[in-house]
Amino acid sequence: MTPAIIEVQTIQHSFKKPDQQDLLVIDQVNLQLKKGEIVALLGQSGSGKSTLLRIIAGLIRPSKGKVLYLGQEVGGPVSGIAMVFQSFALMPWLTVLENVELGLEAQRIPAKIRRERALKAIDQIGMDGFEGAYPKELSGGMRQRVGFARALVTEPELLLMDEPFSALDVLTAESLRNDLMELWQSAENKMKAILFVTHNIEEAVLIADRILVFGSNPGFIKGELKVNLPHPRNGQDPQVSKLIDEVYTLMTSTRLESQLRKESLNHRLPDVGVAELIGLLEAVDELQQKGPIDLPHLANHVRLNIDDLFPVLDALSLLQLAKVSEGDIAMTRKGKALLDADITDKKILFAQLLLEHIPLAKHINQALRRSANQKVSEAAFVEDLEAYFTKEEASRILATLIDWARYAEIFAYDYDSGLLFLEDSR
Ligand SMILES: Nc1ncnc2c1ncn2[C@@H]1O[C@H](COP(=O)(O)OP(=O)(O)OP(=O)(O)O)[C@@H](O)[C@H]1O
Ligand SMILES: [Mg+2]
Repeated sequence: MTPAIIEVQTIQHSFKKPDQQDLLVIDQVNLQLKKGEIVALLGQSGSGKSTLLRIIAGLIRPSKGKVLYLGQEVGGPVSGIAMVFQSFALMPWLTVLENVELGLEAQRIPAKIRRERALKAIDQIGMDGFEGAYPKELSGGMRQRVGFARALVTEPELLLMDEPFSALDVLTAESLRNDLMELWQSAENKMKAILFVTHNIEEAVLIADRILVFGSNPGFIKGELKVNLPHPRNGQDPQVSKLIDEVYTLMTSTRLESQLRKESLNHRLPDVGVAELIGLLEAVDELQQKGPIDLPHLANHVRLNIDDLFPVLDALSLLQLAKVSEGDIAMTRKGKALLDADITDKKILFAQLLLEHIPLAKHINQALRRSANQKVSEAAFVEDLEAYFTKEEASRILATLIDWARYAEIFAYDYDSGLLFLEDSR
């Protein structure tokens, strides 16, 4: 039996926080990539997808577990594995040709052969004629083509891509995606497997043979979906739409489980303002006349991509203003009540929801009531959250809660002193 291209064995990874505590970002991840497979990794921001890719590439050593590449343990960068980054990561002072040759720098290859291979890779990805151009002369799409050429020049067996198309506009992304797929299927392709991260569900369904859904806090593989459709695939194909629905279902079921854990402060409050929250609720109300709404339909209706929609859905389900399940969304009675209330009642209802469903709101409220002057500095709460999150993330989560609580007039916040206090103690 030939070994898998990649075998990730029970990996766990923690980063050190500034206070020297460990932040667990990946837990118990097992995965195998077989020859001929394209696998997509979907998951919320901060769930550890990039970290996993870096571990596989040998750029980071996992805290526990190991990665095997063709049966051999990965202990550092491997010559058969190349990576494409969202940010292109080109050297601005080098030409296209020089940037691509850089991909071969680590390998001791004579200059002449290096040049030949770089020219071939540039040609393969449709950039011939631009060998002498500098990155600043190129559009985003062309820069990413250079990013691809720099990876392909090493003739990798495994190509890792971290959101390779997400910095590009829709049409540019599509044409680059198509060219990559053509290359993958061509006779000259030397790649054996591709693993890529994306936030775009449709992209995952159009490219991948298998989709892994990543859950967060810490990152783990929540579910898996096979895509048995021949290439080229078409976004209009009903089978593609059906699979997109299934992925939504899988992703939202992930969210239901994360709700089970919300009893502690270990929940990443989504970065969403009250206006967005109520805005989406209004859209749901509008569409709901015709029965349950499926999420792709809602996303389309409000013209939000998944990255922007999921945090709002998360907020709505946390506050129990809407119920998300099986890829559908339905407004709850409380959601309807909130929509129908006038502004004063909206605030009262919202305050009740916060104290009832958001443990952090309850926690802060109790702390303020216990403190002698009913004031507590925000730093104290950031510290509480740092048991679960990085300092940056903790501050972000607290800022979101402060924003919600100020709307609800539960407690107030003085920017200059960084103090939180109860509304009625001013
Ligand atoms: N070098 C680092 N030191 C400390 N913490 C880190 C480091 N790199 C990432 N993290 C933390 O690890 C977690 C996972 O980060 P990662 O970048 O892997 O997530 P991601 O799923 O790729 O997110 P995104 O979708 O936003 O790219 C985050 O909480 C992040 O803040
Ligand atoms: Mg990332």
